[in-house]
Amino acid sequence: MSEEKRQADSLSLVAEEVRGCAKCPLSTTRTNAVPGEGPPDAAVVVIGEGPGRNEDFQGRPFVGAAGKQLDALLKDAGLVRAEVYITNVVKCRPPENRRPTDAEAEACRPYLERQVALIRPTVIVLLGDSALKRFLPEQTLGGAHGRLFTRGGLSLFPTYHPAAMIYNRALEKVSSEDFKALGRVLAGLGPKPRPG
Ligand code: URA
Ligand code: SF4
Repeated sequence: MSEEKRQADSLSLVAEEVRGCAKCPLSTTRTNAVPGEGPPDAAVVVIGEGPGRNEDFQGRPFVGAAGKQLDALLKDAGLVRAEVYITNVVKCRPPENRRPTDAEAEACRPYLERQVALIRPTVIVLLGDSALKRFLPEQTLGGAHGRLFTRGGLSLFPTYHPAAMIYNRALEKVSSEDFKALGRVLAGLGPKPRPG
């Protein structure tokens, strides 16, 4: 995004557009759209799959059980929720929490791209397959989790979705190690440069 476009766009404008969006069928079943939240200058952007039931009720990302897991994992990386920007591949809840379709993810993609272009994070954490597929389509989670990738000027760090470890406790340890590795990556990259 050019500097001029960045100045014309803003996270609150994106959020407003998301709340009024009807670009895909998920608009017809949502209670509230969930644009995402966090500081506009966050060094870390976390991308989940899509809002669940609690998120749909509240209009906020990761406020349910998966959110509790995420908070604990962020701690492993030396981060707190208040300093990261949290959003999702699709901003409206897929019925019955099914995976978003490719068509839904593509319809929603411009919002995610604008958010990333505005925030310019040091690292983007991709939670689970849906986020991985948008950014590193040739990778699998099994091979890519816990590693840093550079693609299109973005630094990408895939890991498992925190909801997955509610069903698979063995993943808890793996994810915890991934987030510790993320902490080391962030320490190595140093502070985020100021824009300009
Ligand atoms: N799972 C997600 O992928 N996103 C949320 O916001 C909550 C649960
Ligand atoms: Fe629009 Fe995205 Fe919601 Fe679909 S999921 S209606 S594209 S905001």
